[in-house]
Amino acid sequence: QTPEENASLKLGFESIAGSKTDAVVVPQGYSAQVLAPWGEALNDNASVFDANNQMSALDQENAMGQNHDGMHFFPLNDSSTDGILCINHEYLNVDALYANQTTGEKPLVTEIAEYVDATRLEINAHGVSVVRVKLMDGKWNVVKNDEHNRRFTGLTEFDVTGPVTAELLRTKFSQGQAIARGTFNNCGNGTTPWGTYLTCEENWPGYFVKTSGRNTADDRIGIANDETRYGWEFAAGLAGELQDEFTRFDGSTIGATANDDYRNEVNGHGYIVEIDPYNPNSRGQKRTALGRFRHEGCTFGKLTEGKPVVFYSGHDSRFEYVYKFVSAKNWSAADADPTDRLATGASYMDEGTLYVAQFNINGHAKWLALELASIDKNGNLLSDSFASLAKIILNTAGAADLLGATPMDRPEWGAVDPVTGTVYMTMTNNTRRTLDVGTNYANPRLDNKFGHIIRWDESENQVDFSWDIFVFGSPETSDYNISDLSALNQFASPDGLAFDARGILWVQTDNSAGEVTSYTNDQMLAVIPSALVDEDGKMQNINADNQTNLKRFFVGPNGCEVTGIAMSPDNTTMFVNIQHPGNWPNPENTDATSAPGNTVLARSSTVVIRKDDGGKIGE
Ligand code: FEO
Ligand code: CA
Ligand code: CA
Ligand code: CA
Repeated sequence: QTPEENASLKLGFESIAGSKTDAVVVPQGYSAQVLAPWGEALNDNASVFDANNQMSALDQENAMGQNHDGMHFFPLNDSSTDGILCINHEYLNVDALYANQTTGEKPLVTEIAEYVDATRLEINAHGVSVVRVKLMDGKWNVVKNDEHNRRFTGLTEFDVTGPVTAELLRTKFSQGQAIARGTFNNCGNGTTPWGTYLTCEENWPGYFVKTSGRNTADDRIGIANDETRYGWEFAAGLAGELQDEFTRFDGSTIGATANDDYRNEVNGHGYIVEIDPYNPNSRGQKRTALGRFRHEGCTFGKLTEGKPVVFYSGHDSRFEYVYKFVSAKNWSAADADPTDRLATGASYMDEGTLYVAQFNINGHAKWLALELASIDKNGNLLSDSFASLAKIILNTAGAADLLGATPMDRPEWGAVDPVTGTVYMTMTNNTRRTLDVGTNYANPRLDNKFGHIIRWDESENQVDFSWDIFVFGSPETSDYNISDLSALNQFASPDGLAFDARGILWVQTDNSAGEVTSYTNDQMLAVIPSALVDEDGKMQNINADNQTNLKRFFVGPNGCEVTGIAMSPDNTTMFVNIQHPGNWPNPENTDATSAPGNTVLARSSTVVIRKDDGGKIGE
């Protein structure tokens, strides 16, 4: 689509009011259905979910995991009513997981067998679900036992590809093979131009502990130094001969060599992971060339035949950076539908250059290459500090520090406008941006409670680029309301972000702040940025003259975060995820807009949004 062709596209719904109930809200003329909640069985190896019974580890290994997050719909035979959903499971809803324990909590570590079983259950509640879904008689259903259905969990074996070598991954288990077990804290997602899914490992460092033998990369990324987030390492002392499935969470140096312990286990985590949903026999591939940090998401830039493929990824932590990867191989449209998708993935994602962003004054910016020959801010070569590209990758953020990258207000999802090629990225918030720390050009607000969305356009040389801030989150009434938002579109903490194929930008929020929280639960808004041009055709940001173009489309139930966006190819079905709801969904029916009348078992879930007249979402 060109900007001119796109000029006729309009958002055809009225912006909805905020809401604070145990139900989903959508505009008039739309319906919302619960699909594939936590615990739904993917095959007969799992018991049918029962809110009154504790799941077993085996059930969970064969059922939807917890805390649905990033997601994508992969059509089968180009269908818009039949396809595969890939869904990330970020972390645990501990209260829901143990609702049927007498204590309501994980068994004590002294209850040996129970603690080991519960740890396995928790590991299996993480990862990714691949699930066939189909529209039948006006409702979307999980196709149980479909050959595509499978789970990637915290125990699944993955291949590790790119610069990080087998030697750097050597553990008691790998014995020098380029493999890693498990994927953790899968938050945002991406897809590739060749039809695979990308799942992003975000807050994984807290899943591993090292009390000895720590290196600078471990310290910079924040590997735990006391105990892990869920205490999985404590199961190791209890599990007899199978203990290395838990010992690996403790990377302290205990053996004579790396063959004898798990000092290198952490090197297998922190990556963009590629999955081929169409081939149920394929293994997941951890693509190390795209850097190792707390990856929020991963989105590819506008494709040009004969030019490199570019991927963008934010490091979601306070004062962390924005990255891009530029493939060594040039794009060929013949690769859009390859016979071996993962081989194609390797050809574009294993060799290339990783860059980090430096945002400068007046909308100027630069990509700084994370390679041995780069000169750092002190005038030294990166090769003076790092022995190899692999070592740069293992400490991506440390190398980016040396180059003088710009510390951001928690970079979350990126999205690329299919009409203009402009890249958008959410900066969710940063309340530690105090007067002492100060602001910078791209993060101009102190105590940034409400977040903003930055955007940029690349230049021909791939190194210089220009940026501006598209919108600032804020309550309606605030000195902070730079974008002049109203009650009908005030928001805070933008997080999930995606363009659909038509050029509609969908913005999701996580943890609203201040007056926004008292007005509404987390939400999803829509806007068509390519339509916001002035008389000279120049792109506008959101301001007092055009702010009504940003419309609230969806509000989630109490306690939740709204995250994950997927569309059917014909744009008549939209999928979003409700993560960590407080008291939802209603077990009596699959209507996501129906509030339970009493206290129910809370389950993260996908929500399917359809227009009652079968029309295109948003129009
Ligand atoms: Fe898992 Fe940065 O949100
Ligand atoms: Ca997120
Ligand atoms: Ca977030
Ligand atoms: Ca979350």
